[in-house]
Amino acid sequence: MLGKKSMLAMVVGATIAMSGAVQATTLKLSHNMDTSFPVHKAMKFMAERAKELSGGDLKIRIYPNGQLGSQRESLELIQNGALDMAKSNAAELEAFAKAYGAFNLPYLFDDQDHYYRALESDIGKQILQSSEANGFVGITYYDAGARSFYAKKAINSPADIKGMKVRVQPSPTAVEMIKLLGGHPTPLAFGELYTALQQGVVDAAENNLPSMTMNRHSEVTKFFSMDEHTMIPDVLVISAKVWKELPEHERNALSQAAAESMQEMRKLWAESEIAERESAEKQGVEFVTVDKVPFQQAVAPMYDTLKQEDPELYQLVDGLRNL
Ligand code: GCU
Repeated sequence: MLGKKSMLAMVVGATIAMSGAVQATTLKLSHNMDTSFPVHKAMKFMAERAKELSGGDLKIRIYPNGQLGSQRESLELIQNGALDMAKSNAAELEAFAKAYGAFNLPYLFDDQDHYYRALESDIGKQILQSSEANGFVGITYYDAGARSFYAKKAINSPADIKGMKVRVQPSPTAVEMIKLLGGHPTPLAFGELYTALQQGVVDAAENNLPSMTMNRHSEVTKFFSMDEHTMIPDVLVISAKVWKELPEHERNALSQAAAESMQEMRKLWAESEIAERESAEKQGVEFVTVDKVPFQQAVAPMYDTLKQEDPELYQLVDGLRNL
């Protein structure tokens, strides 16, 4: 087994090799999920298409399972020029470039169609570009469903969250949301969550169902409360420098491959949600149907606060909300 240090030594930015007149590039991509996870399959599809579309010149090597670090660490590696690409999500990216935070407001979208419109909208594209000055740009979004609470007991209303330690991603919006629901937000990297739930470091978590079941959180938490508070997309990002320096035909190939993989992910995600629902039921997970209204009412002040404190970001939020 290679230690993290020696893995990192291998990852020293884009390798651009000249062979004759042809320029070949190999990019390293880090993410925190297992290879069985739909987003890994979507990115594998993307890598294969990028290779095809570039006539074999662009190769993408995927490092799954957080072997190069957590989502936060991967972003830092990109900013330091030590990694080319990473799959993260809008919650995690909010701390690096605030526009991604627009996706993190609870109850922003009416339904899945609305969410999909947002991912393909001009505002969505503007957000992906907004992080250039922070050293990375987004190249596509991936559907990651809706996030709900899960715990060792049923959460029927915000009253049940009162006093609970709830794991959140390191996202200021998620922290604020949990406070308004009466819980104690506990930011943790995803890789630390299983043990934290098992040992009672946190009482609850919130995520999409496949993240709960495929990472075995369902072994230690048996109640999934379907409040569906957020729909936060995964985001595929690339170093702004690497992106700018890619030969044009490779950049075009990567853009197109990424866009195609977004569509592929929709299918993969839908299949995974069905399969994981079955798997959860077999494991004895109880699905709790909740009245969403008290949750919506508790977090509604977030919109007014944002309007006052950050009108620029609020404009993006409002734009997404009204698509
Ligand atoms: C989802 C998301 C991941 C994220 C995880 C988390 O699974 O797709 O990108 O890391 O939530 O809660 O940390």
